[in-house]
Amino acid sequence: MDEKIYIFDTTLRDGEQVPGCQLNTIEKIEVAKALELLGVDIIEAGFPISSPGDFNSVLEISKVISLPTICALTRAVEKDIEVAAEALKYAKHPRIHTGIGTSDFHIYSKLNSTPEKIIARAVAAVNYAKKFVEDVEFYAEDAGRTDNVFLAKVVEAVIAAGATVINIPDTTGYATPEEYGQKIRFLRENVKGVHRVILSTHCHNDLGLATANTLSGVINGARQVEVTINGIGERAGNTSLEELAMILQTRKDLPYYSSIDSRKIYNTSRLVSTLMRMPVQPNKAIVGRNAFAHSSGIHQDGVLKNRENYEIMDPTDVGINKSSIVLTARSGRAALKHRLEILGIELSKTEIDVAYDKFLALADQKKDISDQDLLIMLDIKFNEKHKIKLDHLQVIAGKTPLPTAIVRLDVNGELISDTAIGNGPIDATFTAIKKILKKQVILEEFLIQAITRGSDDMGKVHVQIKSNDVSYYGFSANRDIITASAEAFLDAIEKANGFNFGKSKESEKIANNLVS
Ligand code: KIV
Ligand code: ZN
Repeated sequence: MDEKIYIFDTTLRDGEQVPGCQLNTIEKIEVAKALELLGVDIIEAGFPISSPGDFNSVLEISKVISLPTICALTRAVEKDIEVAAEALKYAKHPRIHTGIGTSDFHIYSKLNSTPEKIIARAVAAVNYAKKFVEDVEFYAEDAGRTDNVFLAKVVEAVIAAGATVINIPDTTGYATPEEYGQKIRFLRENVKGVHRVILSTHCHNDLGLATANTLSGVINGARQVEVTINGIGERAGNTSLEELAMILQTRKDLPYYSSIDSRKIYNTSRLVSTLMRMPVQPNKAIVGRNAFAHSSGIHQDGVLKNRENYEIMDPTDVGINKSSIVLTARSGRAALKHRLEILGIELSKTEIDVAYDKFLALADQKKDISDQDLLIMLDIKFNEKHKIKLDHLQVIAGKTPLPTAIVRLDVNGELISDTAIGNGPIDATFTAIKKILKKQVILEEFLIQAITRGSDDMGKVHVQIKSNDVSYYGFSANRDIITASAEAFLDAIEKANGFNFGKSKESEKIANNLVS
């Protein structure tokens, strides 16, 4: 029978230590709720003694989360433990995570102590934490660089004191997978009482080995993994939750499983990235923009024939709609035809041949060919190809009066206008558009890019909206970024409503219904 690997998420504690990524309590609650839906077993909600904000976040998260255990970090210091226990007082399943450094670096040059005193402080901390909660996790900081024999002594002592989970952090990301796995195995084979507790991995990514080390820890006996969304964390970050969860799910030959609902991974990743203002690197495994994007002609042709030719995971399993085909100079006709079809442009075989020659000429000059490039290449202008046209837009920006937009749309020949106020001119514009079209859509992403650097240059706007649980992308470019934003928003809304640039009867029907 496959064994369960407990997912301990520390996005809100180790992840949040990244400079510039601090969240307020409301944002932390939003992330905690998303983590609960994602299916994590333990949420490390903060380090309560470190600040009133952290204390409050642990307190408030404890009130609203029911299923996962809520964990609070402390040093091996009585006051820390008392404050953590207080912050956890509403938690349905509270856990105190206490510990101390065990490597020679920590014993001698950080704590100015001795191995014997470290064991005594570790045991005292666990004993003290046990007065408040049943579930006490102990961490041996810098265990990755700690001598295994001494580490075993510390671990044995804290288990005897009542620790329920033992965390073996590779705090500096120094260990190699083999070494880290051996460390876990050594503890399993040499520590009295180890079978009563769960051994936990906690790996940092300084050498890019966090996920490999975590997996090696699991293979050698760890049953809890400490991870963060998008792998965020101190310096190069922590093991990423999505990588570990998808390894367990994809590699059916590994005898483990987790309770993560993988289809919620992508949305959780976007939420954390947006709230923490920490972009995900495009080639990040599982959740990066390019993780399911194919750019070479051979791969594109293979994926279009059968996704599994070049994909080991189904993008829908991680909550991404589908694989994407990125058009570059190496793309073939099949990829171009596929992209144009998504845009609702159906060309005959001869038209495709002509379009492909134009495309290759353009792709030789430009690295990536966007939807807008294709439309420009085929000479289809925004207002020509859209059923809903932006007929008039006037905005007031600034502090007083409130940002206001006056929008008039030409919807299938009928002119309709409305006004709205918003947090800014773009928000006001989008609200006015939604009022006119009577559409409920959620704005998932909004990105403005300058094409070059001049302030009079074209701005490119990308938006992603969600309508009926499906995401749609919209784009426009204009010298006026508010106009470009409105057009990109309309572009996405049209796609959500199945418009096909005037080709399909179905689209016409939907257009007519939109303002009914
Ligand atoms: O990396 C580390 O050692 C930690 C501990 C405080 C658990 O984050
Ligand atoms: Zn850490």
